Amino acid sequence: MKIYAHRGYSAKYPENTLAAFCATAMLPIEGVEFDVHLTTDSRVVVIHDEKIDRTSNGSGYVKDMTLNELRQYDYGSWFSKEFAGEAIPTLAEVLEVFKDTHHHINIELKSDVFVYAGMEEMVLSEVKAQGMLDRVVISSFDHEAVNRISKLAPDVENAALFVNMILDVAKYQEKLPAKALHVSLPTAVRKPVLDAISEGSIVRVWTVNETKYLEPLLHIGVDAIFTDEPEKMLEYLTKRA
Ligand code: G3P
Ligand code: MG
Repeated sequence: MKIYAHRGYSAKYPENTLAAFCATAMLPIEGVEFDVHLTTDSRVVVIHDEKIDRTSNGSGYVKDMTLNELRQYDYGSWFSKEFAGEAIPTLAEVLEVFKDTHHHINIELKSDVFVYAGMEEMVLSEVKAQGMLDRVVISSFDHEAVNRISKLAPDVENAALFVNMILDVAKYQEKLPAKALHVSLPTAVRKPVLDAISEGSIVRVWTVNETKYLEPLLHIGVDAIFTDEPEKMLEYLTKRA
């Protein structure tokens, strides 16, 4: 079972910052997951929430600010003084961190609350410019965005995110189409997911921070987990092997 660092190594570093991504890049794990939004001057930036309030010393919506405005704030101090001065990263800066590593990159398009016109094209073009299309997974709770990715780049891996499960998810996956399903931990044990796995679907599960969940997930046959604690999960899975 593969490991993706969720928002970078977010248990030990402020989520979605270069500090969290540089720490991830040192780890022998499969990949990294992070979230993207669009600024008012159409720059793809890496942050989880629609607003910067929780993870910075600023306030307001990402969509209402330019990159320069967003760059005035500190995205590390909320987590620990040690990380004071961390900036909001652009997608390009994060891709650069992993350019010469083996890691797979899961870019989650956070277009499920606000419409970010053209974000799919921008993300694909930045990944292409770095020559990383063959090791990217583009996912979203916004399944229209997942569908657009499949039309724009049929060979690029895309994934549909689910908080709750739907019946016949495998059929839905085929219709989107999505190459993988990214499901919440409570959803992973639901029958439609188990059926989808037995029909050959690739299923990845978020957010798995306790080792007690690993045996059941291994048993189910999930492809990967997203975790804030990549080293802890790696240690368990390595010892078990
Ligand atoms: O992509 C998996 C997971 O990150 C989805 O939830 O809210 O942590 O972005 P969230
Ligand atoms: Mg995410």
